Amino acid sequence: MTKKDDCDFSTSRRGFLTAAGIAVAGSTIGAGAATPVLAADDGQKTAASAAAVPFWGAHQGGILTRPQSHTYFAAFDLTTEKRDDVVKLLRVWTRAAARMAKGLPIDPFAETEIAYTAPIDTSAVVTTTSDAEAKPMLVTLVDSGESLELPPARLTLTFGFGAGLFMKDGKDRYGLAKHRPEAFIDLPRFVGDQLVEAHTGGDLSVQACADDPQVAFHAVRQLARLAYDVADIRWTQAGFIPNFGPKRTARNLMGFKDGTNNPSVANDATMDKVVWVGDEGPDWMHGGSYLVARRIRIALEHWDRTNVPFQEQTVGRQKASGAPLGKKHEFDAIDLKATDKDGNPIVPENSHVRLASAATNDGAQILRRPYSYNDGMNFTAERWPPWRQGNEYDAGLFFLAYQRDVRMGFAKIFDRMSKFDMMNQFATHVGGGFFAIPRGAAEGEYIGQRLFESA
Ligand code: HEM
Repeated sequence: MTKKDDCDFSTSRRGFLTAAGIAVAGSTIGAGAATPVLAADDGQKTAASAAAVPFWGAHQGGILTRPQSHTYFAAFDLTTEKRDDVVKLLRVWTRAAARMAKGLPIDPFAETEIAYTAPIDTSAVVTTTSDAEAKPMLVTLVDSGESLELPPARLTLTFGFGAGLFMKDGKDRYGLAKHRPEAFIDLPRFVGDQLVEAHTGGDLSVQACADDPQVAFHAVRQLARLAYDVADIRWTQAGFIPNFGPKRTARNLMGFKDGTNNPSVANDATMDKVVWVGDEGPDWMHGGSYLVARRIRIALEHWDRTNVPFQEQTVGRQKASGAPLGKKHEFDAIDLKATDKDGNPIVPENSHVRLASAATNDGAQILRRPYSYNDGMNFTAERWPPWRQGNEYDAGLFFLAYQRDVRMGFAKIFDRMSKFDMMNQFATHVGGGFFAIPRGAAEGEYIGQRLFESA
């Protein structure tokens, strides 16, 4: 995957099933596979949601890819002590990911390769069908099946390596400690961080994004199944944004357009500067990136009791248009020097966009790819006046940011923001992780191969 929006419209899960003539085992799945897939869609929508994003390439997909409407993110803990297991897992994951990105179910290849991880007890399944022909298929069918008949939905799978791959509890489990890049620092604890241990960290990460939540969840579910006995899911996070297409900026749960002043993914030079690791990193990270993920709970009840002018001062932009304060249009440049008749800055000193801007951070930039999340309600004690306590939404922003070097990216920008940003009255960081995102894989390679083959 080299360019955003590179899409291949040629395959859908159903297309594969019929073309390959595979009789998927089990009467329910088999019957479903015969029904029309896209009949209810209008042409435009079908094309967009059916599209496949190429998996192979110099960079992993899901970074510059125009954000899909859904994400399902999972962080895994490696439970194996064996380096070979990790290599096998990445091999199997890569192959499964490449297939799922095309809209194909994961395939029976896993019968041999999966044996080391997932001893599937098929005996019970086999006895439930009277279809003798289906039996061999049942034995090897490893896909759980909920994405059959669905188009690829621009599925991307972006794999990351956490600090625990290189060293965990003082142990260099896989002999990789010496390959940990200098830029892959331990992130400091930031002011206000309330990271919940069970929702933080992980040795491996998988960010699945798709225009269909079932496709995204299905993908992670298969990878987790393939990882049995080698890696356990540590935490997951689902997220969503409006399915606006390329022309409009999605609004977050605060009601503001989010992503307006992102660096342009269409500009290769900018992406090289801001997102992709260059010669300063090890070979396996060339064309890779660093991902900071943060589950940021927003006190929506509190936010909803503030008036719009105050909200706009907090963000530094207008709510309806997304324009910077003092300007007319969403993409007008922010003027940080502008003052009102009393000499006060139009874009407040502690507004979000001023504190986050490259201009006030020695040029530091990141590529944000956030999703909203909504995980129901929780009993919550807020940390800002009026110190509400009670049942509140467990909802907010699943912040995902890619950068070439976190020291000139998130760590630099958030250090000051975490202390002074007006938005902190509403936003609390409650989980997340920091992951090295290796370069993309060429066809036939597996993700991370060059790391494991480094001398
Ligand atoms: C609940 C959490 C957050 C919300 C609701 C939020 C929302 C927004 C909004 C509405 C904008 C203005 C539109 C735009 O340019 O995209 C913005 C800009 C920005 N945000 Fe956030 N944000 C959050 C957290 C963060 C965090 C943790 C960072 C970390 C560094 C960050 C970095 C930025 C940057 C770099 C910009 C662009 C500033 C500029 O150059 O104009 N945001 N954010």
